[in-house]
Amino acid sequence: MTGGQFGFETLAVRAGTQRSQFNEHSEGLYLTSSFVFDDAAEAARRFSGEEDGMVYSRYTNPTVQMLETRLAALEGAESCVSTASGMSAILAAMMSLMQSGEHVVVSRSVFGATIQLFNTVLKRFGIETTFVEPTQLDQWKDAVRPNTRVLFVETPSNPLTEIVDIKALSDIAHETGALLVVDNCFCTPALQRPIEYGADVVIHSATKYLDGQGRVLGGAVLGRQDVIRAPLTSFLRSAGPVLSPFNAWVVLKGLETLRLRMDAHCRAAHELALWLEQHPRVSRVYYPGLGSHPQHELAMRQQSAAGGIISFVVDGGRQAAWKVVDATQLISITANLGDAKSTITHPASTTHGRLSAEVRNAAGICEGLLRIAVGLEAVDDIKVDLDRGLARI
Ligand SMILES: Cc1ncc(COP(=O)(O)O)c(C=O)c1O
Repeated sequence: MTGGQFGFETLAVRAGTQRSQFNEHSEGLYLTSSFVFDDAAEAARRFSGEEDGMVYSRYTNPTVQMLETRLAALEGAESCVSTASGMSAILAAMMSLMQSGEHVVVSRSVFGATIQLFNTVLKRFGIETTFVEPTQLDQWKDAVRPNTRVLFVETPSNPLTEIVDIKALSDIAHETGALLVVDNCFCTPALQRPIEYGADVVIHSATKYLDGQGRVLGGAVLGRQDVIRAPLTSFLRSAGPVLSPFNAWVVLKGLETLRLRMDAHCRAAHELALWLEQHPRVSRVYYPGLGSHPQHELAMRQQSAAGGIISFVVDGGRQAAWKVVDATQLISITANLGDAKSTITHPASTTHGRLSAEVRNAAGICEGLLRIAVGLEAVDDIKVDLDRGLARI
């Protein structure tokens, strides 16, 4: 079942399904670490790759394979390799696509742990990073060097929802022979398919909307067969941060409702963003669906809807922001996003807390900033919950 034949919703429910001899209707959960061979010769053929088939769940697992096939169909990618978390997807991609002595250009507005990964771990292995303002295409162009192998971007970015023109960035990457890697966590393929705009590799934290109910960690790397399959598979088989079959099964079931959930998240977030924009205690709202968002038109061109994440600034810095957080009774105070339950975060003291104040400020994460991942509750209840704290500022 591939993208050409069937609609997105059909692929989300059915792509990749493989049935066992029992003909189960729901996807089977193969909770096993290894697979049995008929004889020594078969074991040898499987290990050498001469014969297809299951060997060991660090290599392959039927449940994990079903998820990879389904996700590839949804992203319009030739190939998908899943990982234990979103961060291990980024690590696996970088360790597989890059070598010591090479250079990567990274958007300044990426997830805090991603900045940390480039700044500390990858640096120790001789990979040099230049950070740029994501929306300033000239900065990307100027930062590229002969040894630049990868351009890495999140769009929309976390938490400020900045939008980068994927097509323009892929042109910059390809002019110099580099690869464009896009973290598509905020949109999911339901809202944006970066490969259609020229991205070479797409990253997912499946922990977020792909699962959709805040249950498991997972990640994925997608792209052309020649770019990712062999190098990523080789890295994961040796290094081991693979997705567990149980987590793969949970995400598979999550994908079945991805379109419905994303539509509902987007509708609720848009209504809430309009309400926040009018609120006297809110000085700024970051939501790509608002006409006031600096890249609103680009967002509406590149994405089918604006997404479920809103960030906003309250007057009064950290003290005021924490007041809003602490007054909530419904919204969960937790860093995850993409859950059916709405969540609220103060990025400067949590997701971006490990960064120096200088790096944080450069990324635009001010002390009065709050991020809401709008869940699937009634929007009016979310408004009441936020208004309680906003009234106390
Ligand atoms: C945009 C983005 N990318 C990657 C990650 C990392 O994902 P994980 O927590 O699954 O490792 C996150 C986590 O919040 C994220 O928001």
